[in-house]
Amino acid sequence: MADERSLSAKSESESVRQERAVSADAKPSEKRVDHALRPRTLDEMIGQDRLRDKIKILVQAARQRGEALDHVLLYGPPGLGKTTLSYVLANEMQGSLKVSAGPAIEKAGDLAAILTNLRAGDILFIDEIHRLRTAVEEVLYPAMEDYSLNIVVGSGPGARNIQLSLPRFTVVGATTRLAMLTSPLRARFGVVERFDFYEVAALQEIVTRAAGLLKVPIDREGAHEIARRSRGTPRVALRLLRRVRDYAQVMSNGHIEREIAHTALVLQEIDELGLDDLDRRVLDSIITKFGGGPVGLDTLAASISEEGDTIMDVVEPYLLQLGFLDRTPRGRVATRRAYEHMNVPYTDAPQQGSLFD
Ligand SMILES: Nc1ncnc2c1ncn2[C@@H]1O[C@H](COP(=O)(O)OP(=O)(O)O)[C@@H](O)[C@H]1O
Ligand SMILES: [Mg+2]
Repeated sequence: MADERSLSAKSESESVRQERAVSADAKPSEKRVDHALRPRTLDEMIGQDRLRDKIKILVQAARQRGEALDHVLLYGPPGLGKTTLSYVLANEMQGSLKVSAGPAIEKAGDLAAILTNLRAGDILFIDEIHRLRTAVEEVLYPAMEDYSLNIVVGSGPGARNIQLSLPRFTVVGATTRLAMLTSPLRARFGVVERFDFYEVAALQEIVTRAAGLLKVPIDREGAHEIARRSRGTPRVALRLLRRVRDYAQVMSNGHIEREIAHTALVLQEIDELGLDDLDRRVLDSIITKFGGGPVGLDTLAASISEEGDTIMDVVEPYLLQLGFLDRTPRGRVATRRAYEHMNVPYTDAPQQGSLFD
């Protein structure tokens, strides 16, 4: 991808500076490593068994009939493998993959240009598909449904409608916000699949496989320690592996064992349940600033100077999964478990605190 190429051309010092400045998930140097670690086939993908079994049948059936795959919509929290699966699907179907994203397709004409360059069997991956513009969506509907492209050429009295037929291609859409998809768009996907958080055992296998590829010596307990603190998320597991590798290399003999992993993760402020600084700031704010809630997302985000989207996409899904958070019509509420984890005595009247304390 173009952005990866330009990033790799950057000077060492520049990328080091970016490493420090950027707190986002994938840092430039790590993006390249990520790419190398990405599974290429369905069998190389670890975990998500329910999903993988269904996709295997889908792929095999389409291959047997010599047809393109049905359109596939993948949803779930970031870092669980949606992009990875789209690469795997293209590979399994021996088609080529065109990568785009909802916000990147600005005009109907941009989509028309992408569509007219597709060949039969190609996969068009649209990340953040919930952010497609309406005018673009309207071009996508007939393309997905009838493989036809309707465009207006020219303007004013001379404008003409042209209809082109497109090759049989497959849209793979990915989103963290299924609810934000319009229903006509959603209805055009024959397959809609959710990614769940991963089991510790699967994450342990992912960590072990990645360590093998990176030639980092690691034992079972070391991999387990990283896996169980990874918020059920492969991307987090791989990031923690890199931090623990650094620590083991500098502070020890490079071997990752339980004790080393533990100490390194404490240094990274990853707690026993895998919660990081941002997770804890969110919980702390709900509990101490808003008396346990309910508090609205925007208010909560402003109170800790973070983006509401980051809290909603990255932080909340895992806190909900842990049972630390409830979403109520009036806002987010911290549960008794959250209080216990944060070492704050729980009171039965969570609203007792005041905004103006
Ligand atoms: N099932 C899996 N097995 C092994 N590695 C995985 C798996 N799913 C994801 N990964 C790794 O986790 C990282 C994040 O996955 P990605 O597909 O980018 O997530 P998403 O698109 O859902 O945000 C990738 O670098 C990939 O190597
Ligand atoms: Mg992705």
